Amino acid sequence: MTVATVPNDLEAFWMPFTANRSFKKAPRMLVRAKDMHYWSAEGRQLIDGAAGLWCVNAGHSREPIVKAIQDQAVEMDFSPPFQVGNPKAFQLATKVAALAPGDLDHVFFANSGSEAVDTALKIAIAYHNVTGQGARQRLIGRVRGYHGVGFGGIAVGGMVPNRKMFGSALPAVDHLPATYNRAEQGFSRGEPEWGGHLADDLENIVGLHDASTIAAVIVEPMAGSTGVLPPPKGYLQKLRQICDKYGILLIFDEVITGFGRLSAAFAAERYGVVPDMITFAKGVTSGTVPMGGVIVRKGIYDAFMKGPEHVVELFHGYTYSAHPLACAAGLATLDLYEKEDLFGNAKRLEDKWADAVHSLKGLPNVVDIRTIGIVGAIDLAPKPDAPGKRGMEVMDETFHRQDVLIRIAGDSIVLSPPLMLNENNIGEIVDKVGKAIKAIA
Ligand SMILES: Cc1ncc(COP(=O)(O)O)c(C=O)c1O
Repeated sequence: MTVATVPNDLEAFWMPFTANRSFKKAPRMLVRAKDMHYWSAEGRQLIDGAAGLWCVNAGHSREPIVKAIQDQAVEMDFSPPFQVGNPKAFQLATKVAALAPGDLDHVFFANSGSEAVDTALKIAIAYHNVTGQGARQRLIGRVRGYHGVGFGGIAVGGMVPNRKMFGSALPAVDHLPATYNRAEQGFSRGEPEWGGHLADDLENIVGLHDASTIAAVIVEPMAGSTGVLPPPKGYLQKLRQICDKYGILLIFDEVITGFGRLSAAFAAERYGVVPDMITFAKGVTSGTVPMGGVIVRKGIYDAFMKGPEHVVELFHGYTYSAHPLACAAGLATLDLYEKEDLFGNAKRLEDKWADAVHSLKGLPNVVDIRTIGIVGAIDLAPKPDAPGKRGMEVMDETFHRQDVLIRIAGDSIVLSPPLMLNENNIGEIVDKVGKAIKAIA
């Protein structure tokens, strides 16, 4: 294996969501990837326990996706998305809509999860405007929710560090309580029994603000970035009922849970709940080309398709909405998911995955483990007076010495490998993570 050159100067790049100074002292540099593996700059092979960043669901540098991107770059690099179209955008929208349940029939493209979220929030407010309910502007998120980093996303999000430095964001927001309670749900597999009643808090919020001022509720069906919090049994169904009762739109942020992560095309399918909008990103192109989007129910789209036909119906969009390279990548990715039945693979392995991850119970500092679909989180007890430090230590240990890529959320280890994984991969990932937990104890 060739050893790649690491640049001498790492200063100019201000890395996102990264402890820049400690990274630059001991860089964790990846230079190559294939299927279930990465290679580090030093030439070491690491198994990918994180699907990159929850996105490489099909596995790395898969041939049909690579070829589709290459072919598209030669055929047509870019086409404007406003007032002009490219055929693959329409084909991809049709395919994405077909994967979504119910009458979630229309797709608006963006380039990331954050843009998808802000798009969905804007569509919600605009929808109430065009249907004569302009007072419905309030947006309801949830404590410990993550909806990206746009001003809309951080306003409805519930992660303190992502909010506290950035002013007041949007004015009219409120939050449901988080669904996690270690005492009630510790070491749960799948959906915890306890917590469905927490959806009733939406009634209190309606009582406080009145339904006539509330546009939408946005939740991740499974909160990912705050450390894998699966929905309690009945919780999402109850949210749907209360939203229906008061004419509030329900948005599922499926940026992580979409495209097989919870052993179904979308979490909406797993839970038998049809939200009014689904936001997606990441897995739609298996991480190869940036893309995000919003799937909306027919009634919402139809509400905008009124008035003179020469007038733009929604004053919103991005230069790179439905970028030809992303559309080509998306089509090839969805084909591959289908051809290799990767969502089915996730479903078949879900129990084995849960058994393996839960086998880490009892290792030093492990205070909780949660699994669902092909996702797992292992909470480590924070060091006294240094929250997050144990997480950083395990990140370094896994990367530099155990040869497995993980993700950390504070002091939690988060695992979400590509969905092409097999039983051996599961064994290897969990074994290496276990060794790392012991090594840093
Ligand atoms: C649920 C959810 N929404 C939105 C985002 C933001 O996506 P992006 O980083 O592509 O902007 C993420 C990213 O992890 C996410 O998990």
